[in-house]
Amino acid sequence: MSKTESNVATATAPAPTAGPALEIKDSRTGTGYTVPILEKGTEGDTAIRASDLRRIKERPDEFGLMTYDPAFMNTASCKSAITFIDGDKGILRYRGYPIEQLAESASFLEVAWLLRNGELPLQSEYDDWVHQVTYHTYVHENIKTFLQGFRYDAHPMSMLCSAVAALSSFYPAAKNIQDPAERQISIVRLLAKVPTIAAFCFRHVKGLPFIYPDNELGYVENFLSMVARMSEPKYEGNPVFVKALEVLFILHADHEQNCSTSAVRAVGSSQVDPFSAIAAGIAALYGPLHGGANEQVLHMITQIGHKKNIPAFIEGVKSGKGQKLMGFGHRVYKSYDPRARIVKKLADDVFAQIGMDKDLEIALELERIALSDEYFISRKLYPNVDFYTGLIYRSMAFPTDFFTVLFAVARTAGWLAQWEEMLTDPEQKIARPRQIYTGYGERSYESQLDYGYKVAKKDAVRR
Ligand code: CMC
Repeated sequence: MSKTESNVATATAPAPTAGPALEIKDSRTGTGYTVPILEKGTEGDTAIRASDLRRIKERPDEFGLMTYDPAFMNTASCKSAITFIDGDKGILRYRGYPIEQLAESASFLEVAWLLRNGELPLQSEYDDWVHQVTYHTYVHENIKTFLQGFRYDAHPMSMLCSAVAALSSFYPAAKNIQDPAERQISIVRLLAKVPTIAAFCFRHVKGLPFIYPDNELGYVENFLSMVARMSEPKYEGNPVFVKALEVLFILHADHEQNCSTSAVRAVGSSQVDPFSAIAAGIAALYGPLHGGANEQVLHMITQIGHKKNIPAFIEGVKSGKGQKLMGFGHRVYKSYDPRARIVKKLADDVFAQIGMDKDLEIALELERIALSDEYFISRKLYPNVDFYTGLIYRSMAFPTDFFTVLFAVARTAGWLAQWEEMLTDPEQKIARPRQIYTGYGERSYESQLDYGYKVAKKDAVRR
């Protein structure tokens, strides 16, 4: 497959003949156009092809009409069969399966298989998959040395992002992305090694020795072992924590075309190796408006400090002078995020076991007040997945700046499925948006600087 950047100017679509269509009249020229409604998803999404608008021109030598859509508010960048979200109804499904059912009954590695392959694994497929992922958990010793180069107070997301990018240099064959066997081993390696690196980041910041993977443990318990094991000969995770983290990993495994997944797809579309593309996703996830929000929720709750301070805090949010209510709002969900509902229930289970988190009371009151306030109601702002996850993570003794790393470990499954879907989609090319240029027209260069020579109209003459 050779996919290079296309010259869209030569790719103007032909005028349609039949089928559902938009009738558009250009008031500048009086010309009418028929733009076919070509794209229809299984759940009723419809779209026109943006390039079909290129026929709409005022003058023949013009580029043609574009759509202007900052932040991709209404642009489908791909067709995808992986994850479906209905933001108004609060529905999330992976490959058709409701998130509630998967969270209740599946394992994370089963979900990772499902996301990539489209179907639930048979027992033999699952056993082989678990075996492969388990036996690729070790990382090259130089990765350890690499991580030890970070300062004691490095943010673990910076470390994770850099180390995953660095993995690319250990597996040069991973750049053969058109080879399904290379894709397979890269996907296995990433799913297997990201938890190991994440745990090593934790241990480095804590000044603790790195714990090697224990291949007798399951995916989640092994991760907890690498994070928490001390001198005990055999690590045994708290079953409530193991179950909670498994569910949280499933909830975070994919979320269709969010910021980090779009980053993975865009960077991957340059045909770079998957380690580099996933590192781009980790960088995007780090931001406080995306995966970094779970960390911000805890900072916010700490800042509020007491239930009595909530009304003043909410007033600050509403006035726009204070910060946003972190863990609230979503680009797609305009009703309760279904993941938040599951996380809230999970928090109840965890706190029933280990005692109530003191800040849960603040969080519950914050949610109660926000959900009854006109500002939040009219904007359809509901708690998102990040609102309660931080409280659970903290109760498991994860430090605040590690929360987004946990998100990244889980989302690696979705990023990889989306990356491979993009690569094998014959319609995809290198991602390359257009722009509406608003700068100067052509003008002549006349430097304001003294480089030690004069710039004459035609030649530069040394003084
Ligand atoms: N607190 C207060 N006001 C908000 C919030 C919030 N959390 N979120 C949105 N608004 C307001 C916003 O100011 C705007 O008001 P107005 O119409 O008066 O200008 C209106 O609601 C629409 O918001 P928007 O910014 O246009 O919405 P968006 O789709 O661009 O942003 C968001 C989505 C998630 C970035 C935003 O809701 C936000 O910043 N939330 C807080 C951060 C957060 O919790 N992020 C995690 C998202 S879920 C996990 C993930 O996907 O990573």
